[in-house]
Amino acid sequence: MRLRPAPFPAPGCRPPRGVARTRGRLPKTALCLASIAAWLGGHAVPGQAAAAGPAGVNPHPIHLLLPPVQPLSAVARLGRRLFFDPSLSASGRQSCASCHSPGYGYNPPDKRAVQPGGPDLKSVGYRPPPSLAYLYRQQPFSIGPDTSSVDIPVNLNAVAASLRNVPRVPKSAGMPPPAAMVPQGGLFWDGRADSLQRQALLPALSPVEMANASVSAIARKLARTRYRDRFAQLFGPTIFQAPRQLVAEAMFAIARYQVEDPSFHAFTSKYDAWLQGHARLTPAELRGMHLFNDPAKGNCAACHLSRPGRDGLPPLFTDSQYEALGVPRNPRLAPNRDPHFFDLGLCGPYRKDLARQTQYCGMFLTPTLRNVDRRAVFFHNGVYRSLKQVLDFYNLRSVQPERIYPRDSDGVTVLYNDLPKDLRGNVDSTDAPFNRHRGDLPPLSALDIQDIIAFIHTLDDGYAPPRASAPVRPRTRD
Ligand code: HEC
Ligand code: HEC
Repeated sequence: MRLRPAPFPAPGCRPPRGVARTRGRLPKTALCLASIAAWLGGHAVPGQAAAAGPAGVNPHPIHLLLPPVQPLSAVARLGRRLFFDPSLSASGRQSCASCHSPGYGYNPPDKRAVQPGGPDLKSVGYRPPPSLAYLYRQQPFSIGPDTSSVDIPVNLNAVAASLRNVPRVPKSAGMPPPAAMVPQGGLFWDGRADSLQRQALLPALSPVEMANASVSAIARKLARTRYRDRFAQLFGPTIFQAPRQLVAEAMFAIARYQVEDPSFHAFTSKYDAWLQGHARLTPAELRGMHLFNDPAKGNCAACHLSRPGRDGLPPLFTDSQYEALGVPRNPRLAPNRDPHFFDLGLCGPYRKDLARQTQYCGMFLTPTLRNVDRRAVFFHNGVYRSLKQVLDFYNLRSVQPERIYPRDSDGVTVLYNDLPKDLRGNVDSTDAPFNRHRGDLPPLSALDIQDIIAFIHTLDDGYAPPRASAPVRPRTRD
């Protein structure tokens, strides 16, 4: 029998109100842990739900189905060299790692909103580089209820047109994801690349990134690398006479590196350790987790999925779908000096195939929140520079928009000012916390926000349990 997902949180398991932060004992914590265990997807043992272990420990540890850790294949080892090789860029100074740094969870290593690129490193795009980690389960881009039922390639324009007036089901944390009549999958903020292999070619050729003039320009650089012999060994001695194939093999190698190297999907965060029973969450982290998951509070988990799959697949903190959140315009981006310029995500300007499907304008891919606090800027336009600002946005956008958006010359707050007027109706106002009305109470207090941020910190890879040799075991009653 398939277990129905337990409601989250269980009755009586609200984040304790009015509990002083410094108080050691949290009377409701034990109950909450029991409900978390049930919510974790049928992993709880019925009847044991009330048994709780030491404060902060997951009473029902889960066996996570983690990707296998194996030595890299020869192709992936070649991919690693390519990933870190600046000689492949027109400037000679930029590798993939310049914008996707392993030390920062494959986020950019510095605080700029957008990274310079191009032959002289003076050109800039208008989107911050996303993390390259945790893409290993990303499906190809599709529109419809279920990725597995959509054959690729499809005429996305026709599918999108047929879905124009289909109403959306609101997303609520703790409920099964709605039959999504929304775009999903794909790579980049707008899903325009389908595979890591096809993807790698785009930055290599993009005028604002590695800026190679053509595929043959890349091929010439590959033929001059110090490791050119590796190509001949792996792909045969004639590979240098077939520039297109040479470049395709190089891109395939970079993709293999990202798939095979464990650092791209390490699952070594404190949260992963907690799920498996190897770590304790502090009271603040635990409260933050509740608030993150609670549909009446953050409702973050409705889109940034926090629950492991039934088979133990670790959560990626994204549902791989697209939303228009209406984040405010970033006045620091150069293209935004033109008041007629708008980055519309799914409907352009980078992506062209859905340009006429205006119901998707303003939608961007929900990013993973793993390692997100290693980013210096947040959202597709990098408008925010701290998680506190991001949380203020979620908390206040609907109830006190005057604190989020600028005013026009008449003193009127311009809602959703990073979209043209006629497209502002696309912005999500059905999913909590965006379903509140102007003047309502904000869902989160200042303390709630601090606690959610404390929880987000538990999603950073590289957590070392205090005593690695002795996993924390929940106490049993008998
Ligand atoms: C100048 C900075 C820069 C360089 C160099 C660069 N990228 Fe990126 N990368 C970006 C930006 C910006 C985006 C987002 C673009 C968008 O969404 O339109 C991105 C997106 C990606 C994505 C999609 C990630 C996701 O979450 O969807 C992948 C994969 C990727 N890059 C891989 C690479 C590889 C491989 C290289 C080297 C061949 C590389 N990048 C070089 C800036 C860079
Ligand atoms: C309705 C779906 C939805 C809900 C609910 C939601 N998010 Fe998001 N989140 C998104 C999307 C989509 C983006 C990217 C939007 C963009 O850039 O325009 C995003 C972006 C973010 C980012 C920036 C990540 C980056 O790499 O720049 C953070 C941090 C974040 N969300 C945290 C949260 C938190 C915390 C909550 C709960 C208070 C939450 N989200 C609730 C969909 C959602």
